Amino acid sequence: MRTAIASVAGRRVWDSRGRPTIECEVMLSGGATGRAIAPAGASRGGREAVDLRDGGAAFGGLGVDRALAHLNGEIAGALRGLDAADQAAVDARLIALDGTPNKARLGGNAIVAVSLAVLRAAARAAGVPLWRHLAGERPPRLPMPQIQIFGGGAHAARRLDLQDLMVVPVEAASFDRALAMTAEVYRAAGRLMAEAGRLHGVADEGGFWPDFASNEEALETLVRAIEAAGFRPGEEVAIALDVAASELGAKGRYRLALDGRELTTDGLIELLVAWIGRYPILSVEDPLAEDDAEGMRRFTRAVGGRVQVVGDDFLVTSAARIDEAAAAGACNAALLKPNQAGTVSETLAALNAARDRGFATIVSARSGETEDVTIVHLAVGWDAGQLKVGSFARSERMAKWNEGLRIEAALGPGARFAGRSALAPARR
Ligand code: PGA
Ligand code: ZN
Repeated sequence: MRTAIASVAGRRVWDSRGRPTIECEVMLSGGATGRAIAPAGASRGGREAVDLRDGGAAFGGLGVDRALAHLNGEIAGALRGLDAADQAAVDARLIALDGTPNKARLGGNAIVAVSLAVLRAAARAAGVPLWRHLAGERPPRLPMPQIQIFGGGAHAARRLDLQDLMVVPVEAASFDRALAMTAEVYRAAGRLMAEAGRLHGVADEGGFWPDFASNEEALETLVRAIEAAGFRPGEEVAIALDVAASELGAKGRYRLALDGRELTTDGLIELLVAWIGRYPILSVEDPLAEDDAEGMRRFTRAVGGRVQVVGDDFLVTSAARIDEAAAAGACNAALLKPNQAGTVSETLAALNAARDRGFATIVSARSGETEDVTIVHLAVGWDAGQLKVGSFARSERMAKWNEGLRIEAALGPGARFAGRSALAPARR
C-alpha cells in the first residue's frame, strides 16, 4: 500500500494576525506528502472545536506548544500505518484518540491541521489536484463568492456592530467575472472612503476599516460603492451581511453600540427586516445569537422565503445542529468551517446534512488565515455552491481567490459556475 501514513509532523507557523498556529506535514509510504495549516477565528461559536492554547505571557497566551506536542507525539504515533486514502477512518481515529466532545484535549487546531494534511497527501498520492480527488462522480463547480468590502465587529475593534458587509456579484457568469466585478466595487468603496476622509486601512479580513457614524451608514455606503463601480445594486451586485449577533449580546438582549441602541430579539429582527426592505440584501448570517434558536426561527419564518439565512456560530459546522435547525425551521443555509468541526469527515457530514435538508452551503475561511488554500478545493470538489474567504485584499485572502481562478482555468471552457442559483432559498 503506497498510501499508508509513514510520518506526521507539526511545526509552529504564524497566521495573518501574527499569531502562532499549527502546520502539519504528512508523508505516505509511497513518498507522497501533504501539508495544511490550521486557521483561527475571532468571533467563535461556543460549540466549536476548541483550539488548544498554552496560556501564560508569551504571545498573549496564544502559544501552540502543547497542541504541537500532542501532534508530534500521541497523534503521530496513532496515525502511523493507517491508510490516508480512508479519510473517514483517519478522522475517526483522531476523534477517538481525543476523546472529548469538542477536541479540547489534543486541540482542534492540531486535529484539523492533521486531518487536512492527510487529505492533501491522499490526493497527491492519487496524482490529481485535490478538487478533482474530492469531486469523484459529482461534476465540480466553481462557487459563487461572498466578498467582504467593509470589516467590522470583532475584526475591527468593534468600531461597527455589523461584522461583515459583503457583496455577491449575482450577475456574474463565471468565477473570474465574479472577482473582476468585486474588484471594481472594492476600488470604488476605497475611493468613497478616501473622499470622505475616512480611509484608515483595513480590518482583519482586508475589508476597509469601518469609520461610519451608524451601522446603516455602512450599508448606504456599500450601495453607493456598487453604483459607483457601474453596477445596478441588487440586479448585478447584491449585499450579504454577517451580523455575528452572538458578539452583540445573548438571551434576547442585543446592543448596537454605534447606534446607541439596545434591542430585544424582536427589535433586532424588525431592524434587519427593515434593512432588507431598504437595501438589496440577499443573505444574512447569524442574525441572532447562537443561544437564540427561537429568534433564528422567527427571522427565518419572516424572510427565509426570499433571503438566505445562514447559520455560522449557530450551526458550528455540525450535522446534528443542522438537522435540529432544519427540523425547527431555523436557517436555510449552513456555513462550513473545517476547524469548527475539527476534521474533514465531520465537515463533509455537515455539508451532506445541509444538502439533505435543502440548505444552501458556503465553505468559509476564518478571520485568522494563512497561505493555505485547501478550503477552495473543498468548495469546488464538494460543489458547495458558495465560498466566503474575507475581502479583496491581503494575500491570505487573495491566495484563495487566485486558487479558484487556477481551478477554473484547469477545468477549461467547460468549467461550471454556481451563479446566483447557489443561494438559498432554492427557487431564487
Ligand atoms: P471568525 O469569523 O473567523 O473571526 O470566527 C468569521 C465569521 O464570522 O464568518
Ligand atoms: Zn460568521
